[in-house]
Amino acid sequence: MLKVGVMVSGGGTNLQAILDAIDHGTITNAKVEVVISNNPGAYALERAKGHGIPGVCLSPKSFDTREAFNEALLAKVDEYDLDLIVLAGFLVTIPAAMIRKYRNKIINIHPSLIPSFCGVGYYGLKVHEAALARGVKLTGATVHFVDEGMDSGPILLQKAVEVLPGDTPKILQQRVMEQAEWKLLPQAIDLIANGKL
Ligand code: GRF
Repeated sequence: MLKVGVMVSGGGTNLQAILDAIDHGTITNAKVEVVISNNPGAYALERAKGHGIPGVCLSPKSFDTREAFNEALLAKVDEYDLDLIVLAGFLVTIPAAMIRKYRNKIINIHPSLIPSFCGVGYYGLKVHEAALARGVKLTGATVHFVDEGMDSGPILLQKAVEVLPGDTPKILQQRVMEQAEWKLLPQAIDLIANGKL
């Protein structure tokens, strides 16, 4: 059984997609052991609670230095003896020591077709604003392993989504989540849990 930790910052719809997929048997051989948020107000923590999963908040703001936060985050992750860490809308940079220790065990979902609209400054709605500003007709989502760079690790899965006339960043974000993110992330976890990647 793959022990999964999910890291979140916001609403947690991707977390929900993972929990639903486990409940429905679309993901097999995996269990979410903990949900970690940097944001005490993240609704994702409520979703964890509703599923009887420990929800932990570690905010950089509660630590004197970034180093102290980084150490605490790594210690927390270590506590759960995780096989896979899933970044599901986690907006904090993963400490280098954690990337080294969990090499090829951390995956992230990014709401574009990498290498488009990714890297420093491309997060949340900004990704979709940039896609619309460039006038692309296709965008999508990418699941990739996390390495020391920003959105630069090996790509696991991608799915394209159409950009439609009249799209606003919010409308496009919603379509990318529904058609790509909520499917790809559970699919990636299932593949890893069943040794297919
Ligand atoms: C998603 O678009 C994800 O790709 C991103 O932030 C959003 C998180 O949404 N980077 P949620 O918290 O899973 O609802």
